[in-house]
Amino acid sequence: MTKPGQLFAMMVTGLALVATPAAAGAAPSAQTPPTVNIVGGTQAAEGAYPWMAKLSVGCGGTLVSPDIIISAQHCFSTPGKTFTADIGKVDATQASGAGQRRTGSKYLVGTGPQKKDWAVLKLDTPYNAPAYPVFPADTRYDAVPKFRAIGWGTTTSGGNVSKMLLQVDIPLVADSNAACKDAPATEICAGDLTNGGVDTCQGDSGGPLMSPLNGDLGSTRPNEWVLVGMTSWGRGCAAKGEPGHYAQLSAMRQEVLNAITSLGGQPPVNMGGTTPTPTPTPTPTPTPSAGCTVTNTTPTAIADMSTAQSTLTVSGCDGNAAANAAVTVAIDHTYIGDLVIDLLAPDGTAVNLANRQGGSAKEIRKTYTVDLSGESANGTWTLRIKDAAAVDAGTLQSWGVNLRPGR
Ligand code: ARG
Repeated sequence: MTKPGQLFAMMVTGLALVATPAAAGAAPSAQTPPTVNIVGGTQAAEGAYPWMAKLSVGCGGTLVSPDIIISAQHCFSTPGKTFTADIGKVDATQASGAGQRRTGSKYLVGTGPQKKDWAVLKLDTPYNAPAYPVFPADTRYDAVPKFRAIGWGTTTSGGNVSKMLLQVDIPLVADSNAACKDAPATEICAGDLTNGGVDTCQGDSGGPLMSPLNGDLGSTRPNEWVLVGMTSWGRGCAAKGEPGHYAQLSAMRQEVLNAITSLGGQPPVNMGGTTPTPTPTPTPTPTPSAGCTVTNTTPTAIADMSTAQSTLTVSGCDGNAAANAAVTVAIDHTYIGDLVIDLLAPDGTAVNLANRQGGSAKEIRKTYTVDLSGESANGTWTLRIKDAAAVDAGTLQSWGVNLRPGR
């Protein structure tokens, strides 16, 4: 049995190894590293985890509000002045594309691995992610059959770090299992004890262990993951009989929230439905006009630097639309001036409604009058919203058309 002192030495070595891959294998106290695929993982889809952060200390982290990243204490054990966080990227070496780089210089930490391995880093400048994972209210999501972990850590024990964000699904190892006896009160254990092969590894520390909010590991919604743990430590990686150990967030929840408050950070955005969602500004509805008025009230996310589309279908409005057709739009966005908004007629003709007007305004509640007399009314109409500038994001709350006002 490895003594805790040796374990910590291994973890620190692991970190150094991430920063300097050339030093791999130099750890004198390390056991023979099993050759396994950590992660037995697959590459994460672009946009699946827009809140995931890669920290310059060779760790992962989770953005839970625009200026707060949750990570692990042992990632911050060598005090630095400023930490860099690449947020929302799959290839974190790519400066362009999705996501943003931020710095953070204020942080608070817990007591470390096998105790309370949490860290809270406050960003110097907020980043508004298009979605956030759920910050857990209690232990409810701590014992699911399988978790998901993600990170840029090594893909084998003692191997090289991954350039791309990888994900892996890992079975729960119960607190009652002997393999999880180190610190069951403050850790979640996960691993395939029989076969090995799926695990986090060096460089994944601080990153999230997640439970699917709706029990579905196939969910592709970035806000449907519950942050239940922070990757902490293991004896090697992905070995049979050895689970990965994750700081159990529910066991240190209040200290983490207190740390966020003392750092002056914004509280976690996604409390998983435990806090009421603010009432949105009421949306004006177009005056009903049988068959020619249709509204779509399903919200559509407008992610940073991407194009969102929402459709509605008009039937029972024979003939062409009017020269004074009305298009009503309700959008919330942290910077309205980012948006290029077009209406696409059923035949694909585009009519521009807004082209990056509105500056730093936060919402559009507007009815545009458009000459659609050249377009047949029946068919599928599309509202296309392009976010053409980095940083901000928002939501199309609803939109509608009245293709023949006054009739
Ligand atoms: N301590 C490691 C790090 O700093 C994480 C190790 C996780 N190991 C495991 N077998 N799950 O990145």
